[in-house]
Amino acid sequence: MSKRVFIKTYGCQMNVYDSARMADALAPIGFVPVDDPEQADLIILNTCHIREKAAEKVYSELGRLRRLKQRPAAAGGPVLLAVAGCVAQAEGAEILDRAPYVDMVFGPQSLHRLPEMIARVSRGAGQALETDFPVEGKFDLLPEASAPASGVAAFLTVQEGCDKFCTFCVVPYTRGAEFSRPAADVLAEAGRYAAAGVREITLLGQNVNAYHGAAADGGEWRLARLIAAIAEVPGIERIRYTTSHPTDMTEDLIAAHRDIDQLMPYLHLPVQSGSDRVLRAMGRRHSADDYRRLVDRLRRARPDLALSSDFIVGFPGESDADFQDTLDLAAEVEFAQAYSFKYSPRPGTPAAGAAQLDEAVKRDRLSQLQALLDAQQQAFNHACVGEDLPVLFDRPGRHPGQVLGRSPYMQAVHVNAPASVLGTVQGVRIISVAANSLAGTLKERAVA
Ligand code: 5AD
Ligand code: SF4
Repeated sequence: MSKRVFIKTYGCQMNVYDSARMADALAPIGFVPVDDPEQADLIILNTCHIREKAAEKVYSELGRLRRLKQRPAAAGGPVLLAVAGCVAQAEGAEILDRAPYVDMVFGPQSLHRLPEMIARVSRGAGQALETDFPVEGKFDLLPEASAPASGVAAFLTVQEGCDKFCTFCVVPYTRGAEFSRPAADVLAEAGRYAAAGVREITLLGQNVNAYHGAAADGGEWRLARLIAAIAEVPGIERIRYTTSHPTDMTEDLIAAHRDIDQLMPYLHLPVQSGSDRVLRAMGRRHSADDYRRLVDRLRRARPDLALSSDFIVGFPGESDADFQDTLDLAAEVEFAQAYSFKYSPRPGTPAAGAAQLDEAVKRDRLSQLQALLDAQQQAFNHACVGEDLPVLFDRPGRHPGQVLGRSPYMQAVHVNAPASVLGTVQGVRIISVAANSLAGTLKERAVA
């Protein structure tokens, strides 16, 4: 009889990719994914550490799941409980101390060891803890990534980890040193995805534009070269990549936005702050003007490029004038979309020890910045009304007869159309803007 695994994914798209790889690693030993924890024999929490109180939230979720350890045999018997991802990496043995009923704790670099850990725990050999950064790459040891079961748009991890050590960020500690997958592996995975019906690939990495993967000719490919090669894979109509660091935005990558049709005119490029003083304290390695110049170059290469960003407000030492610099930069650049956060200290990071600004100051700055960014997003969306946009339809809508897709600029677009358009790019005349999506009508002829 097959066993069932429930994987709960928190946080970024890389965790979504990792959860899929866990399912791939478990398939050969008989596990099928289910979407109800009550039905599962194994529950994995694939956690994220980027937000405040991440670890506390995991402990309360574990507290809720604990009763499934006492499940009677007739109802499936006790569940196996695992904590994976970045909280597992950061907390390690602490989790086994505070929640001793947990069976397995493993970091993002150890998910290929999952079958071995399950065997060990099932033998009664005690809890499993795997939070090393093994020398062997997890990608070599995992089964080939299966294409998403019903995916038109898929994530593909090409790079992992980060060597930048921004002073607020846990990623270099939880995901480890920067590592790029060999280009041939990435291309093979893209080919398998395309054969399974995937039309859009988002290349993932914590610092994706630092990509420098080994190439078959013995050299190294940067991200621009990899994108050009993926653009040649038959069936792949759209390519995106995320997340990028401004200082790795090389000339060839900017040129790729001009030259490669499949590369979508949308870029997530976190700036974090508009103040040089704060950027320096954050260890970001670029100034506000460097960012402005970079945006100019990108827009010269691809005039319709839509930009998205991340901002942190209330970093230690941020003055009113510093914050005004952030508002000024945002007002100047005009983002199509952006995320903004209040700074919150992450234990073990350099900025964590510094004196904190008042919570009320942080809250006020966040609401000011968010008001500006929301208005920019609304303006961007409204400017699309009356335009014809190519939309890749990837899911049925909530109402019968409705289908949903994405514009080149990542906006959700819904139209009334037959389900036969799913998996294809169609021209859509945008007619209105709703809270989180655009509505349109299908043009008669498909556009690429
Ligand atoms: N506090 C607030 N926001 C943070 N981010 C990362 N670390 C922190 C922190 N300690 C934000 C950054 C990053 C995004 C993924 O999360 O803006 O780009
Ligand atoms: Fe974190 Fe990004 Fe800075 Fe790396 S570049 S340390 S992932 S914020």
